[in-house]
Amino acid sequence: MFKTRLTEMFGVETPICMGGMTGVGYGDLVAAVAEAGALGFITAHMFPSGQALFDEIERTRTMTSKPFGVNLTLLPSINPIPYDDYREAIIASGIKIVETAGRAPTDHLPRFKDNGVKVIHKCTSVRHSVSAVKKGVDVISIDGFECAGHPGEDDVGLVVLLPATVDALPDTPIIASGGMADGRSLVAALALGAEGINMCTRFCATKEAKIHENVKRRIVESTELDTVLVGRTLRNTARVARNAISEEVARIQQDPSKTFEDVKELMAGQRARANVLGEGDIDGGIWTSGQSQALIHDIPSCKDLVATIMKQAESVRARL
Ligand SMILES: Cc1cc2nc3c(=O)[nH]c(=O)nc-3n(C[C@H](O)[C@H](O)[C@H](O)COP(=O)(O)O)c2cc1C
Repeated sequence: MFKTRLTEMFGVETPICMGGMTGVGYGDLVAAVAEAGALGFITAHMFPSGQALFDEIERTRTMTSKPFGVNLTLLPSINPIPYDDYREAIIASGIKIVETAGRAPTDHLPRFKDNGVKVIHKCTSVRHSVSAVKKGVDVISIDGFECAGHPGEDDVGLVVLLPATVDALPDTPIIASGGMADGRSLVAALALGAEGINMCTRFCATKEAKIHENVKRRIVESTELDTVLVGRTLRNTARVARNAISEEVARIQQDPSKTFEDVKELMAGQRARANVLGEGDIDGGIWTSGQSQALIHDIPSCKDLVATIMKQAESVRARL
């Protein structure tokens, strides 16, 4: 057993989370993660309206009675995203845990607080963590440079970023995110002061993730060298899987005069979700994966994955 402030606060059996994932974070996977004793988050912006999110929450509840949450990724978008409607759907559904990412959720906090919803804010620097806590978030999930998705622009690995954040925020529970994949990661994160871990690339390679088998197999085959940073010159860096498209984008962006327009077609998320996650065409678009893929060697069920991680964590603790 690993009891931490995270397991106590959210009533989960293990200190393991699965944060928001565009194209992956649907209710079925979130329910499987919950049933495994971990804390999963439905990714709100995949749903066209507050009502559609509400329906997905209700559908997830038919699959599990254990706790789960909702991720709100607060990013600027060409098409307006109905964030206020998502927030109200979360409150109306009785969900009590929200993971936010992108900008600080300042405007949503009063409604969440009034309704007993705890907010885990995911960010990528000590300064943003401190500022989010000042604004009132309850927990920080700190994403190291290893992470899939947006690692920010500071390039600080989790082995430094995590304890630095813990030191800066001694009263706030901190979750270690980015590069976490097994029982060793969990014990290491706890040793560095975290109350739990957040894993996403690892949960993509599970039986219940509704993405094409080719993607899961590619994650298993990949090493720590098989990710690429795109968007650097636009100060909107994303760590994605190495493939023909991500290498092409990185090549184009070596020229600092290139703008988003020059890579827009290649980067289109819709295209990647249809071609790669849906059809299994690994080179069909840009898809998100982290360096943790180097530590992923199988495609288990969520239940077996969480059980194996906890068993390994116990044996690492015993060895230490
Ligand atoms: C396929 C995929 C999609 C993701 N989409 C989102 C997203 O929509 N919002 C978000 O906050 N983070 C997103 N992330 C980042 C994760 O929530 C998490 O911060 C990161 O993956 C942790 O690193 P790891 O993959 O090494 O575990 C995504 C990650 C993956 C693998």
